[in-house]
Amino acid sequence: MKTLSSRVASQLSAVVVGMLVLTANAAPDINRERLSLDRGWLFHLGDIPMPEIKGHGASYGNAKAGNAPGPAGTEYDDSDWRKLDLPHDWAVEGPFDPNANISQGYRPRGASWYRRYLRVDESERGRHFELQFDAIATHSTIWVNGNVVSHNWSGYNANYVDITPYLRYGDAMNTISIKADANPMEGWWYEGAGIYRHAWLVKSNPVHVVTDGVHAAPRKAAGDNNWEIPVEVTLDNSGKVAADVTVEVNVFDPSGKQVAKQRQGVSVPIFTPTVVKLPVAISNPAIWSLEQTNLYRVTTQVFSQGKKIDETSLNTGFRTIRFDAQQGFFLNDKHTKLQGVCIHQDHAGVGVAVPDSIWEYRLRRLKELGVNAIRFSHNAPASEVLDLVDRMGFVVMDENRNFNPSPDYMKQLEWMVRRDRHHPGIILWSVFNEEPVQGTEVGYEMVRRMSSAVKALDDTRPVTAAMNGGFFTDLNVSHAVDVLGANYQVPDYDRFHSARPDVPFTSSEDTSAFMTRGEYTTDKSKNLIASYDDDFALWGNSHRDAWQAIDTRAYVAGGFVWTGFDYRGEPTPNEWPSVSSVFGIMDLNGFAKDAYYIHQVQWIKDRPLVYIAPHWNWAGKQGQEIRVMVMANVERVKLLLNGRELGEQKVDNYRMNFFKVAYEPGKLEAIGYNGDKEVARASVETTGKAVALELIPDRKSLAGDGRDAMPITVRALDAKGRAVPIDNSEVTFEISGAGKSIGHGNGDPNSHEDEKGKTRKLFNGLAQLIVQSNFPELRGESKGEIKISARAPGLKTARVSIPVKAVAAVPYVAESIAPLTYLTDWRVSPASAERLNPTQVLADNDMNTWGWGQPPMMNMPGNIKDGKYRLYRTHFTPRKNLANGNGKIHFYSITGKAEIWLNGVMIAKKDKFASGELNLDLPAGEGRRQLNVLVEGEGDNKAGVDGNVVIEPKK
Ligand code: GAL
Repeated sequence: MKTLSSRVASQLSAVVVGMLVLTANAAPDINRERLSLDRGWLFHLGDIPMPEIKGHGASYGNAKAGNAPGPAGTEYDDSDWRKLDLPHDWAVEGPFDPNANISQGYRPRGASWYRRYLRVDESERGRHFELQFDAIATHSTIWVNGNVVSHNWSGYNANYVDITPYLRYGDAMNTISIKADANPMEGWWYEGAGIYRHAWLVKSNPVHVVTDGVHAAPRKAAGDNNWEIPVEVTLDNSGKVAADVTVEVNVFDPSGKQVAKQRQGVSVPIFTPTVVKLPVAISNPAIWSLEQTNLYRVTTQVFSQGKKIDETSLNTGFRTIRFDAQQGFFLNDKHTKLQGVCIHQDHAGVGVAVPDSIWEYRLRRLKELGVNAIRFSHNAPASEVLDLVDRMGFVVMDENRNFNPSPDYMKQLEWMVRRDRHHPGIILWSVFNEEPVQGTEVGYEMVRRMSSAVKALDDTRPVTAAMNGGFFTDLNVSHAVDVLGANYQVPDYDRFHSARPDVPFTSSEDTSAFMTRGEYTTDKSKNLIASYDDDFALWGNSHRDAWQAIDTRAYVAGGFVWTGFDYRGEPTPNEWPSVSSVFGIMDLNGFAKDAYYIHQVQWIKDRPLVYIAPHWNWAGKQGQEIRVMVMANVERVKLLLNGRELGEQKVDNYRMNFFKVAYEPGKLEAIGYNGDKEVARASVETTGKAVALELIPDRKSLAGDGRDAMPITVRALDAKGRAVPIDNSEVTFEISGAGKSIGHGNGDPNSHEDEKGKTRKLFNGLAQLIVQSNFPELRGESKGEIKISARAPGLKTARVSIPVKAVAAVPYVAESIAPLTYLTDWRVSPASAERLNPTQVLADNDMNTWGWGQPPMMNMPGNIKDGKYRLYRTHFTPRKNLANGNGKIHFYSITGKAEIWLNGVMIAKKDKFASGELNLDLPAGEGRRQLNVLVEGEGDNKAGVDGNVVIEPKK
């Protein structure tokens, strides 16, 4: 038998609080649960000044564990805060402000607060509880029950916090408080604000696999198709005794068949991360490739005395990668030119709080474009995104945000590698993007440290850094990386390669060309840029030039176009009123610009493609010359206007094909030939004016889990049902049933419309509405479908119903009941033979004559020599809704006779010694109250305030 006593007991020997009895080997037989903590948060926009701490008593209290003041603490009145679910980006909800930072898309940023209550059942005592926030923009501080438990200095990495020690069980609610401070910036693009990725509560056995604690990166062994996974599992033990456990790793092939197994016994001391090695060998696995994304499941189970006490799993894949200094990149020994894009993480309507299913849509759009490589610039993405990457078949440059090898920042880099190293998609670790010290010894020394930290965690991928110069000094970052990443610098490609022919080379970023979707005339006065691929940043290239430079050099592994999608902020070359970038191959919604077709015909080789730009609605320009761009991957293209042949050209797949066409309404058509055979055809047609709206859902149905979301394309059609590419109607949405709108956009970089409101204008014929299913228990009347209507003046209303399929929600932590105030912090007088004066003054500087306690405060034998009276004192400020006569003080149990005094007045008396509950009306009043409980014990029996004390609504 072992006794655990709390800090209170050691301070106040007479009052032993919360006695817990534990037996050795008490590790309960509990499996892991990973519960979504996305639901049921309270939000306050703006900072809340912390109360001034003045006076000795207050200063002393403020310095103690569990006593964080104001909104960080447990007692704070948040009853008027907004209720919401995560993920949440509040910056995207706000207005645009010309005085706000251009780089952040003119969206004001600042601090905000989140709070959530968490009830943990008494029966769960003994489990290990970890709180996980996948990302909070930007700096965050987390408190649990008034204890600060985490500071995080990056908006792009997760917080994992063991909250077990601070928890209260049963009715005494736990409080999670978070200050999300988005005043600091880590980027020069839109970063959002708030808890914008998922949150989780992980409950496990005290002996458990630590988060991201399974290292399972396969590697090729000697022999034909022999592989090994040198699995390493890190365990920890927050229990009270060392544990002897057995760890078992199983590997399952894509069909679910078990292909390898390894077991190993290990002793896990208390609070000592312990690594177990369980290498497994696998022959002839199904190889992961861009086309066949064979994923193997690696499960890790922990057994104690034959019982399973923990289990985790991850996916990985078998593939080889190689960067060759002369020939570029090889995946599974197959030469693969990297047809890559850089992307940021915001999407129309939702900011950076992008549902996983919208990521699926974004990646699907990239796949259709022919992209095979993604650089998540300039930060690691959400882990769900990397799961999609593995499943959909992309290779990835995973990038660290902050360039700094000091301990706080090295943690960020190490977190990324530890979390992501099992993903077969990841082929490069990037330690930075464009650092001014890149050409110096300082940069070299910093990268050397960061690279070696990466390699200590994963030596299966090369380390790179995205350099925009500095390659030619005597000592620079290129001497510390495995693969040189060049941002822009096209004229230096060959110079570097001849100076350092043994260093593998890739473009890490290129292009930076500008296009406004659907625009064909550059008009600087309107911040509009034509889509002919003529305009690009001074440091960049057109889409065509950049790809030609990369594709014609064998030693260049590939390119990463800046960028796959437009993003908010950085509206280069424009400024206000432009609020988002125009670099994207697609706009903020994932609608194609003409750059999409340029790259698609360059990157997709297995099917013939032909596209024409611009659209053919040029009323008023009859007879005027229109520049026509034909994009194709075939041998020849022929152009026809209203059936008349206008000419034929040999396809130039790098430059594209241009024609000058005198405008006449009708149909402009391009026919693609290989040899004499027609293999593809495209046309643009002059449409009539818009007469109706159309809604095109991206998928046939939504999963009714409260998470699944899909984009719906909104278009205007003419009388013949053709999409009108120049219509800019203002559309009003109505949504009812089993889901809701979570935002919308139209890709106009100059639009200042509310992204969450009821209306949205089409921009050059298109807008996008994003709908999300309700949580199962919140499904509305027309359970089973979301009904959406879109109307605009003069146009026929469009209606669509999206079936919402019943599925189990991701297991989640239920919302807690309305928060109550638990009076947890008490002072307790020494015992006295004489009745004590309940209103006696305790000097503000006296921290020692009275003890400190938290209910249940028992253990006061009535006959001890010091006496049978004891006084319990606390202070509290009731929540607004309970202060004015609507509240009561609820003593779950008092043992002994008692007098209850509030602000110097006796309000109730308990005149029996036996334990009993007490419910008293809380008199109306202002401000902070002092509550005294004078308890009188009897004989040998224990006495005291031995249950929770709660301020709650009168029933
Ligand atoms: C690069 C930078 C990117 C973006 C781009 C715009 O220098 O790495 O983040 O700013 O320029 O052209």
